[in-house]
Formats: sequence, structure tokens, C-alpha cells
Amino acid sequence: MSIAPDGASRDHPVLVVDFGAQYAQLIARRVREAHIYSEIVPHSISADEIADRQPGAVIFSGGPKSVHVEGSPRIDPDVYRLGIPILGICYGAQLIAAQLGGEVSRTGVGEYGRTAMSVSHPGTLFSPDEDTERPVWMSHFDSISTPPDGFVVTASTPQAPVAALENPDQRIFGVQFHPEVAHTPGGQAVLERFLYRGAGLAPSWTTESFIDEAVAAIRAQIGDGRAVCGLSGGVDSAVAAALVHRAVGHQLTCVFVDTGLMRQDEGQQVIDAFRRSQGIELIAVDAADRFFDALVGVIDPEEKRKIIGELFIRIFEEAANQVDGAAYLVQGTLYPDVIESGSDSAAKIKSHHNVGGIPEEMDFELVEPLRDLFKDEVRAVGHELGLPDEIVWRHPFPGPGLGVRVIGEVTPDKAALLAKADAIVRAEITAAGLEREIWQAFAVLPDIRTVGVMGDERTYGQVVVIRAVTSEDAMTADWARLPYELLEKMSSRIINEVDGINRVAYDITSKPPGTIEWE
Ligand code: XMP
Repeated sequence: MSIAPDGASRDHPVLVVDFGAQYAQLIARRVREAHIYSEIVPHSISADEIADRQPGAVIFSGGPKSVHVEGSPRIDPDVYRLGIPILGICYGAQLIAAQLGGEVSRTGVGEYGRTAMSVSHPGTLFSPDEDTERPVWMSHFDSISTPPDGFVVTASTPQAPVAALENPDQRIFGVQFHPEVAHTPGGQAVLERFLYRGAGLAPSWTTESFIDEAVAAIRAQIGDGRAVCGLSGGVDSAVAAALVHRAVGHQLTCVFVDTGLMRQDEGQQVIDAFRRSQGIELIAVDAADRFFDALVGVIDPEEKRKIIGELFIRIFEEAANQVDGAAYLVQGTLYPDVIESGSDSAAKIKSHHNVGGIPEEMDFELVEPLRDLFKDEVRAVGHELGLPDEIVWRHPFPGPGLGVRVIGEVTPDKAALLAKADAIVRAEITAAGLEREIWQAFAVLPDIRTVGVMGDERTYGQVVVIRAVTSEDAMTADWARLPYELLEKMSSRIINEVDGINRVAYDITSKPPGTIEWE
């Protein structure tokens, strides 16, 4: 079977076969960074199904199992007969060796972390211009001890005699190390050599090509119908709306519900960015009173989330019903949401409320133009469509907003106090140039009071907690090691500028065991 050599388009994706590694998404993202479109597929996919997708190449991810364990994940061996270029990473490389007649041994000694690898022969994946010794990131227990017939070994480490192997005629390659992680310095170059040289693919997955294709697809879907889109102020719904607007112009109406639980000035920013700059039809509803009324006396976090989520949907419906004949609902669903909803066995920690979540009784057809994109790609599209940096680079914000950052009962006063403190935290993060390194930085009002002294006076005021985390995907997170000077500046500004606050604390909990939000 022959594959079109320009495999960069969505017609010929690079398929990343997931063997249960935490790295499959990362591999898919790295392939996209090489400007080649990629998708994740389960290892249960058959060779025929792979052939039907006409992929430009296939990459086997790592996995937590040993090929020697019964029931460990396999791939349909007919995949090797399709003539499609294949790269196996870690477990994926061992599987190739085992399935094609090589040997994988349990040496009793694993190799974890940074390791010096020695390249004996550059082959396809390495450059002859680099040192023969280079650092790579390893995480394996078994090792390939004998390559299958027709394969040459191109690199080794002390614990992995076969750290890289290839059969350039069949275009099958394997690496024991992880080229996708940042700890392997030349890792992206190894992936790119596989894609460009090994598989002969051309880099053509670009922001511009995505926008052109998406605009055509949206026009084909909506035709001369009418669409509505719920704007949250966040980047996903903003980019989805801007893209649909580019495709169908005034056939799109956006709805922005100001819950009173937004970040400072956010409502106005959304109105400015969409109605004024982009010329998008926008229904803005100031519903703050309704939300605060509904939250009187409510303390339990899940109850708050439910009340806010349901009220939001009711108000969104009221506004959407003003748009005559709207048959389409635009949503900013991203690729990670699509992958995750396919395998949802995780315990529920919090009930998420996503702005634009489909009101069940409303009969809309969904338009989800971002469902193939990762977050960084969404930002690039937003930038290309002319959205302002404040929106494109905005940190994630939970649907229930400040409602889950004011601990205990939410009142307009507490929300206003928190919004002011939060604006200071974010402004200082931006001023320090850390906005893009930090996943989220915000303030929390734990609603406890402590004694302090200001001037010669005793004070009895509120505490603000600063929360700043680094993360790749919000599934895990680490507390950010912010410079002390920055924390000091935030603290003194909050106390001096926000009346009623006399103490500031910094949250040094990672996720797990904490979550990013406090409720
Ligand atoms: P947690 O607190 O669970 O948050 O660690 C993980 C990420 O999700 C965001 N978050 C939400 N996003 N609707 C959303 O769209 C929600 O109800 C919601 N709750 C939390 C949170 O800000 C973090 O980025």
C-alpha cells in the first residue's frame, strides 16, 4: 500500500498509538510542533483500520507494562506489512523488537532518568555533526538485547545495548529513550528526522492552513443557518467564536453572561474585544444579582458549582432564544477534552461547569471547530485571528469563577474584594514576565479573619491566599517557585490597596494532593 508523501494534512495524519503511557499526548504535540498533523489512537486499532486512515506514519508510545507480561498491550502485527513508516518509543520499540523476532530481556536492572547515550552510527535518526555521546531521558526496566533481522543498532547506553535501532528499507525505527520529553535535549530533532527523513513527510500543518480548512468546514456545516456561541472570556470559546465569525460573519451571535463572579474588568474586556474590535454580534447579560441571590447561605462547594452551572444555562437559554432560528451552538471543545471523554473512568473530584455546555432540552447542532487542537495551537490561531494578547494568553478560569475562590458563602462584597486582590496578583505576574511560564496565578479568599497592626492600630481583617502553579495540562501541577521579591510586592500591594485585607499567604501545595482551585 502506498501513502501520499505529503502526509502533513489531516487526510494523512501521523497516528500515535497509545500503549497506556502518560506520554502519548506529549508525543502527539511534539509531532504537531514539527508542523505535521497527528492524532492519538488506542492500541486495539486493527491494521485494516490503520490502513483506512492512510497515515503518513505511525508512532508507538511507551507504556507501563513489560512485553513479557501476559495481557500486555500489543498491536495487530499486520501493521508491519502495510509499508507505513513506524517509530517505536520505549515500550513501543521493545514491542517492535519482540513482534519482529528480536529479543527483549529482563536484565534485572532498570534505567531511569538522565543517561549518557553513545551513538555508534548516525543512521536516519541522528546527525553526524553531533557528539557521539549525548544525554537522553530513559525510563525502562526491560531492554532489547537482540534486534530483529534486517535491523541495525545505532546507539547504546550502559544498560541498553540497543538504545536505537532501524530498518531503513522497511522504514521501521525504534528508540529506547524518550525523545518527546524536554529532558532529552536533542529529542525534537530525533522526532523530526524520523518524520522528515525516515517517513518523507513535509511540514505543512500550520496555523494558516488550519484556519483555511476550518473556515471552509464551518461554512459547509452552517450554510446560511444561524449560530450562537457562549463566551466565557476564556481563550477557547473566544477563539472558537472568532473562527466561526470569520467563516459566517453576522450569522453568528455571541452570548456573554456576566455572573458577577468574573475577573476584574473581564466583562468589559470581552465586550470591547468582540463587539468593538471584531464586530461580532454580542448579547451581553448582566446577571450578577441573580447569581448572588441564588448563592445566599450556600457554603458547600459542590452545591455552589451546581447552582452556578444551572443558573448559567438558564440565562444562556433565555439569551439564545432571542436569536431567531439559531440551529447551531458553537463550543470551544479541545482535543484533550475529546480524548479524555473517550476514557472516562476517573473518579469525579469536582463537577465541572463549562461555559457553553449544552442545555439538554435545547435542540442545537454542535459546531466544534477546535476539537482537533491542543491549547498551544488554539492560542496560535487566536493570535492569527487578531484577538488581543490579554485574551489569547489568559490563564484558565473555572466556569463557576470567583464563586469557587471565595470559600464559604459568596457575597458581592467578598467577590469585589477578591477581584481586586486577584487583579494585583495577575498584574504582577505579567509585569515580571512570567505570564506564559505560569499555568495559573490567582487569589483566593479563605474567608477567615486574623489580627494585625497597621500604623498603631489593631486590625481584624481578611486573609488573601496567593495560588500560582506550573502545569502541562492541569491534571497534575506544582506550586510555582515565585521569586520572594515578587511575592513581597504582591503582598504589600494587596494590603495597601485592598481595604479590609491585613494578611497574605502563599499556597505551597502541589496537585496531587491538592487541586489547583480551592473548591
Ligand atoms: P482543579 O481545581 O480540579 O482544576 O485542579 C483543574 C483545572 O480546571 C479548571 N477548572 C474548571 N474549568 N469549569 C472549567 O471550565 C470548571 O467548573 C472548573 N473547575 C476548575 C481550573 O481552573 C484548573 O485550570
